[in-house]
Amino acid sequence: MSVSYKELGLVNTREMFAKAMKEGYAVPAYNFNNLEQLQAIIQGCAESNSPVILQISKGARSYANSTMLRYMALGAVQYSKDLKTNIPIALHLDHGDSYELCVDCINSGFSSIMIDGSHLPFDKNIELTKKVTDFAHKYDVTVEGELGVLAGIEDEVSAEHSNYTDPNQVEEFVKATGCDSLAISIGTSHGAYKFKVKPGEEVPPLRFDILAEVERRLPGFPIVLHGASSVLTSYVDIINKHGGNLENAVGIPEEQLRRAAKSAVCKINVDSDGRLVFTAMVRKVFAEQPKEFDPRKYLGVARSELLKMYKSKNENVMGSAGKA
Ligand code: G3H
Ligand code: 13P
Ligand code: ZN
Repeated sequence: MSVSYKELGLVNTREMFAKAMKEGYAVPAYNFNNLEQLQAIIQGCAESNSPVILQISKGARSYANSTMLRYMALGAVQYSKDLKTNIPIALHLDHGDSYELCVDCINSGFSSIMIDGSHLPFDKNIELTKKVTDFAHKYDVTVEGELGVLAGIEDEVSAEHSNYTDPNQVEEFVKATGCDSLAISIGTSHGAYKFKVKPGEEVPPLRFDILAEVERRLPGFPIVLHGASSVLTSYVDIINKHGGNLENAVGIPEEQLRRAAKSAVCKINVDSDGRLVFTAMVRKVFAEQPKEFDPRKYLGVARSELLKMYKSKNENVMGSAGKA
């Protein structure tokens, strides 16, 4: 049975991005796979009065069950109202890899879809993105396409090396596909090992020159950054201090993301930072309280710390706090 996101209290990304573009901030797009992550995202965005995009990957759907996740997201809409806020919430498919998956998500109440054809030849990427967009727009679901390849490994998409977006291709891609936003590659990458640098060494800056050229060619068009976790040292240190081994984990410096958020970048994706916070707190509780075996005790600590991290992102990185 099909259900429209509009009946579920969700919104697509069109107005969210128009406001973000006008006012110079980025809407946070946070991935979730479980209840505690989702609670922290919603409470964090409610408390900072920020719009939010809830992201579900194909991997998350198979881990947590697609029906479960969908109802959790819907519960989240109601939860945000219980918290006495009316923040806009979009439910977004992250890295959709086929037309069929996108259709399934649209039919089950997603308000926004990413079709990731970035690994395909240009013409095939256009063909697939257009096919998805034509279907999605019948239901007023917004579509994110991608041009350029990010390095890093995800469940379904993997690439050894990044391949920066070619600004010469963006106008044709957007015009031919009709997509609503475009993910580009300017030096971010997925996961917790974004750059090979020695401890203390500066990471290479993002390619703001490519971003500027894309903006020049697509004035007012919403741009998306994937792979934008900062891999916060404080959490990596907690993990490593309590039995973990995340050597040389490094992310995108927050000040570079802040700069991007003020530009045409309207959506910034963060998954790994949530995973790191969660792991750090669970490891800490296990190490310090070896007799503890009530999951609420360690998951609850992880959830509280996640809440702080999301609020801090909204306030200090995205600039989305107070913008709902
Ligand atoms: O960019 C991808 C997200 O981090 C989702 O990762 O496929 O492991 O759920 P996943
Ligand atoms: P990170 O791995 O940097 O959190 O990126 C997440 C992402 O791009 C989700 O699509
Ligand atoms: Zn991504």
